[in-house]
Amino acid sequence: MAIFRPRGTNDFLPADTAKWQELEALLRTMCREYGFGEIRTPLFEETELFQRGVGETTDIVQKEMYTFTDHGGRSLTLRPENTASACRAYVEDKLYGQVQPIKLYYMGPMFRYEKPQSGRFRQFHQFGIEIFGSASPAADAEIIAFAWDLYQNRLGLKNLRLLLNSVGCPECRAAYRKALQDYFRPRYDELCETCKSRFERNPMRILDCKSAENQEIAKDAPLITDYLCDDCRAHFQQVKAMLDAADIPYELDPRLVRGLDYYTKTAFEIQVATIGAQSAVCGGGRYDGLIKEIGGESTPGVGFALGMERVFSALAAQGSDIETEDQLDVYLVVAGSAASAAAFRLADQLRRAGLTCEMDYADKSFKAQLKAANRLQADWAVIIGEDELKSGAATVKNMGDGSQESVPLERVKQYLLEK
Ligand code: HAM
Repeated sequence: MAIFRPRGTNDFLPADTAKWQELEALLRTMCREYGFGEIRTPLFEETELFQRGVGETTDIVQKEMYTFTDHGGRSLTLRPENTASACRAYVEDKLYGQVQPIKLYYMGPMFRYEKPQSGRFRQFHQFGIEIFGSASPAADAEIIAFAWDLYQNRLGLKNLRLLLNSVGCPECRAAYRKALQDYFRPRYDELCETCKSRFERNPMRILDCKSAENQEIAKDAPLITDYLCDDCRAHFQQVKAMLDAADIPYELDPRLVRGLDYYTKTAFEIQVATIGAQSAVCGGGRYDGLIKEIGGESTPGVGFALGMERVFSALAAQGSDIETEDQLDVYLVVAGSAASAAAFRLADQLRRAGLTCEMDYADKSFKAQLKAANRLQADWAVIIGEDELKSGAATVKNMGDGSQESVPLERVKQYLLEK
């Protein structure tokens, strides 16, 4: 019986990975420009990191983690996201001892047991940036500006919406929590089972419930922005002022809660309307309590992560694509075994000179080889047959205009490099 890849996962073939590499290169370039250094953390962590970090009342922890017990009896979890791991590394690797703030980026696979659908996978890829050790609203603004710069300027995506909110801090949330409970209490029995369990532990999560009935019940719920303390209000004001100064357009969305529990103050998401239900191409915010929550000294943090698959969906939906350099420089067309050896030697020289080079190993006919050169979009075909071997000169064909020239074998490399 055939074996298939697990649901919600993808194979990326060379035509895809060429584009992924371009996107990765763009992100790395931006990180250099913005001053973020790469961190690579394990693909799995102690389960407790995500339970405490991401939060017990989130969908991720309640339903979506790939958790297993290893041969030593430890409970480990494939990372559903990378912020908690970056915080763990900040503490464990004593990054707090270096000049602050610490600015990190990461990219790689994340794992969530979600219902697969367009734009939602069980193994997906995130790129993210985090700033540790700065409580300044400027750090929030820089994170948002990075995301906006990427989508708006570097990728040229259209129909972007930047949704912005402040979810306050534990202090303002105490009053808000009570207001929410007062609001939901009369209709408690109508809530879904998950939300009933959230009512006591984290009523804000109810606002994030996907069920239509719950959304209807929640539609007139009190808004966090009416409960912000002076400090959170001032912080939010300054973030908005900096975004205004940078001409970054945002929409205030006082119902934006985000799916992870660690956020404090700023929360944001960028959506692209054209890619359907899974329209969030990135999300992030501030998490000033997270590092302490996982055992470090109280340290502020802010960051965002994007789903790389969704970047490609958004580009495809507007008919644009990432350009790749997949063109072949040279295809060697050979006839006969003596010519094969000479061509093999030439291929070696050309590749070491940095040219991309292919040749036929299947004794294809002359015509079939030229066809292959065409199909691979080679710029040049270098023909080495018996005549060429005898005269010691290859026929070099310009595949663009069809012109050809006889070039001594030992000069072919130089000739092509000059062209
Ligand atoms: P998140 O909103 O859970 O945030 O995920 C960030 C992005 O990852 C989403 O906006 C989406 O583009 C993508 N994504 C999430 N789940 C899937 C999935 N199942 N399939 C495809 N793409 C997906 C976080 O993960 C936070 N760690 C972000 C952050 C960083 N906050 C502060 N720093």
